[in-house]
Amino acid sequence: MNAPTPDSATLLACAREILDLNWMGHFTVPAQRQYPYQWSWDSAFIAIGYARYDLWRAVEELRALFAAQWADGRVPHIVFHNADPATPYFPGPGFWQVERSPHAPSSLATSGIVQPPVHATAVYSLYQYALACDPASPLRAQALTAVAELFPCLCAWHDYLYRERDPRGEGLVAILHPWESGQDNSPLWDPVLQRMDLRPEEIPPYKRADTGAVNAAERPLDFDYDRYIYLVDFFRQRDFDDRRIIAEGCPFVVQDVLFNTLLCRAEQDLAALAALFGADPAPFLARAARTAAAINRKLWDEQRGYYADFDLGTGTAIPMPALAGFTPLYARIPDAARAARLLDYLGSPAFGLGLHDTGGYPAASYDRFASGYSPRRYWRGPVWIQMNWLLMHGLRDYGYTLEAERLRRAIIELPQIGGFREYFDPETGAGYGAEAFSWTAALLIDVLAEA
Ligand code: GLC
Repeated sequence: MNAPTPDSATLLACAREILDLNWMGHFTVPAQRQYPYQWSWDSAFIAIGYARYDLWRAVEELRALFAAQWADGRVPHIVFHNADPATPYFPGPGFWQVERSPHAPSSLATSGIVQPPVHATAVYSLYQYALACDPASPLRAQALTAVAELFPCLCAWHDYLYRERDPRGEGLVAILHPWESGQDNSPLWDPVLQRMDLRPEEIPPYKRADTGAVNAAERPLDFDYDRYIYLVDFFRQRDFDDRRIIAEGCPFVVQDVLFNTLLCRAEQDLAALAALFGADPAPFLARAARTAAAINRKLWDEQRGYYADFDLGTGTAIPMPALAGFTPLYARIPDAARAARLLDYLGSPAFGLGLHDTGGYPAASYDRFASGYSPRRYWRGPVWIQMNWLLMHGLRDYGYTLEAERLRRAIIELPQIGGFREYFDPETGAGYGAEAFSWTAALLIDVLAEA
């Protein structure tokens, strides 16, 4: 790896400038042109970055998101603050039509699906930074009050997931759309989407907007996009009622490793918050342990040595080698023996994390030698900063400090090589996707601030 010598102060200033550019006064857009609204898990990562230097913004960011929480507890994946029909974004509020659900908020326009639940983790880290502030600071008191106010919202959010999204009562929640995974265009979804044999008249008319701002070679194919849109239509025809959607044959029902891992970790963090507010942490810890056990029992692939998603439609595992299959390290789910198996594969050139591997930048989002890998196309190989950040923390927890350090260096170096982009080529470090991307900046700020 060709390491540039980072001048931390300059880098930090650039990262903050990007967040300033994307700050809309009470929330942050992921990127101005490509993602001009508020995205759910982006906001959690962005708040983790803000918490390092601007507690007020971190609080506002999460408050703005939870202001759009549905009455059933779901946190929508997009909040269309100040939606303007002239903004070239698709699918916008007019397509989602969430007003069909009795649970959708009336004061804010939103999408009707969810994204990975990193929010309790973000709120817990916000709490810790608030505590470390000068006790006389009014900001500290305000942040602690905000954490107390967010606590019941977080409980309702997790209750929704376990109540509505665990059709078999296994302690594993299901996602119903690739967009709910956060890894929108991963090869993980290929087998499921390819099974969806749609007649042209089943796909509602639509016009993509995502290839206007970003090169089409870095975005999903039309075949995939047709299926994304079909699924949105399937949901709105069923008024976003998850039980009906699942009972009436939704073609995409997947128990996803990353989503369940982040929920498990968030439950652990919610337990820590509960203890602070005089609530009993035991039920949260019990739910986290149950999810961890289910991930170990059902999603572990003994032959390949990583965790694999499970397709409830076919009742089979999805054996595609995605980086997400290693993320259970982030919630301390594998035991030491399984962690060592994970490291055998993660440390191979397939993901670029080998200690003796000098070419490229870790960690590829998909096995570099597997069919379907692309160094450039969205989620099919490029490095994502938030994935590196999750794995960095997981590896540290297991004592794999050298590998964790390589990920940390990539978080710092890639924006210097490829710009503050949405994702990066694991072979060359070139930046792709949206420019001036918020969580790339926020998580860089977080790691630069580490002692
Ligand atoms: C892309 C990513 C998703 C992210 C969104 C906004 O769709 O796949 O994870 O939340 O962009 O940044």
